[in-house]
Amino acid sequence: MREATILFLRACLTLLAMPIYILSFLGIWEPFCRKVFFPFFLEKLTALQERKTKKPKQELFRNLPDFGSPSGELKLLEIGTGCGANFQFYPPGCKITCTDINPNFQQSLLRSMNKNQHISYEQFLVAAGEDLHQVPSGSLDAVICTLVLCSVHNVNGTLKEALRVLRPGGAFYFLEHVAADHSSWKYFWQQICYPTWKLIFDGCCLTRELWKNLEEANFSELHLQHISINLPWTPIQPHIIGYAVK
Ligand SMILES: C[S@@+](CC[C@H](N)C(=O)[O-])C[C@H]1O[C@@H](n2cnc3c(N)ncnc32)[C@H](O)[C@@H]1O
Repeated sequence: MREATILFLRACLTLLAMPIYILSFLGIWEPFCRKVFFPFFLEKLTALQERKTKKPKQELFRNLPDFGSPSGELKLLEIGTGCGANFQFYPPGCKITCTDINPNFQQSLLRSMNKNQHISYEQFLVAAGEDLHQVPSGSLDAVICTLVLCSVHNVNGTLKEALRVLRPGGAFYFLEHVAADHSSWKYFWQQICYPTWKLIFDGCCLTRELWKNLEEANFSELHLQHISINLPWTPIQPHIIGYAVK
């Protein structure tokens, strides 16, 4: 009964979003989404998220300086930098390499860089998290990945690359929305929204159990918490937050 209701409500949502499905069928939606819609939407979302995630992020990144070298140098790499929502949380003087698969965030990225001149921007690479071949192995103190693992094609491949580029003892920081408890209404709605949400929001998957990927990746320590971020009327409230050490 539950399965049938999910399928029925999914079909209703598909009907509502039919113009986008048609644009996708014609090959128009995906390039438009990447170039225009998603950069615009992400800037608005970042402003809303900033209010909701400021405290957890401040707490999360508090021990980032501990992973610096004895000389005090701290080299970071961000996977899926987007508009640069995390720059404000990085310690002064750290050196950052920004990566993203989508090169269309220049304007919002520049605004964020101008606001956050306390960090040193080393490189901007258009690269998928699954393939960071431009970055030497063991060259970084920390890798940061927030709200990205929901969209990558290969979660395990991305974690493997993060591990490769980290030096031994370096840390992988994450904040990701995840699947809700399977017995909850939230999971029910996540299942209904899943296909349409993925199409509209550039491949974002609502029902990934990302804590399992992190548990199975070869980190030597994992500090992971399940939290709920109050984003009313959205299916992305359950999150995981924490860091893992190589
Ligand atoms: C929801 S945004 C989050 C941006 C930013 N990390 C934040 O917390 O605001 C997801 C970002 O991941 C990027 N992305 C999606 N798939 C990716 C992949 N395979 N490799 C690297 N970045 C990816 C998108 O282009 C987008 O910038």
